[in-house]
Amino acid sequence: MSSGTRPLAIVTGASTGIGYELAKVCAREGFNLLVAADEPAIQDAAEDFRKLGAAVDAVQADLSTTEGVDALYAAVKGRPVEALLANAGRGLGHGFLDQDWAAARKVVDTNITGTIYLLQKVGRDMRARKEGRILITGSIAGFLPGTYQAVYNATKSFLDSFVTGAKPRARSCSRTKVRVGR
Ligand SMILES: NC(=O)c1ccc[n+]([C@@H]2O[C@H](COP(=O)([O-])OP(=O)(O)OC[C@H]3O[C@@H](n4cnc5c(N)ncnc54)[C@H](OP(=O)(O)O)[C@@H]3O)[C@@H](O)[C@H]2O)c1
Repeated sequence: MSSGTRPLAIVTGASTGIGYELAKVCAREGFNLLVAADEPAIQDAAEDFRKLGAAVDAVQADLSTTEGVDALYAAVKGRPVEALLANAGRGLGHGFLDQDWAAARKVVDTNITGTIYLLQKVGRDMRARKEGRILITGSIAGFLPGTYQAVYNATKSFLDSFVTGAKPRARSCSRTKVRVGR
């Protein structure tokens, strides 16, 4: 498949770990990519994905912020997004009372606020096209409160609840083919 005819997938947090592997799977499965992460390493990762045949745009943006999510969404440039893999996330150890507040807040802002803000923007486009797939990287941490990861685990629990709530609504949107999962 030439890169000009491939569908587009957005993968957040694609510079390392699970997101890096998800992006590679998407490239191998015939998607072009729009990838994002907070650090410059996203550019190196983008080079790896290009070697798999995908046309790749890379955005370095802090997805815990409205501006960062807006920058990522602007890079879509009106193209139809077939798949959104909302994977960017961060953890934070230690007891809650001993955590730095700014760092704890960043976990919430990245894992929850930035994630669902991006989902709303891309999801509205998918609803208008009546097509698209959204995958949120959840965690077993969402099912069990974590004494030394209380904030992180709670963010994953939020996402579990959110997806369960959003799923039937996505299905019922004028019988669209929009799918949401985790
Ligand atoms: N590792 C596990 O055992 C595990 C298990 C279950 C679920 N998960 C979930 O899987 C996802 C990926 O985790 P991972 O283990 O692969 O972690 P990772 O290797 O640390 O990768 C996290 C990715 O998210 C990006 N990211 C974090 N904060 C960001 C921000 N504010 N703005 C933009 N990008 C940001 C990072 O980019 P930068 O480095 O540039 O910030 C990186 O690309 C997370 O949602 C995590 O909760 C992980």
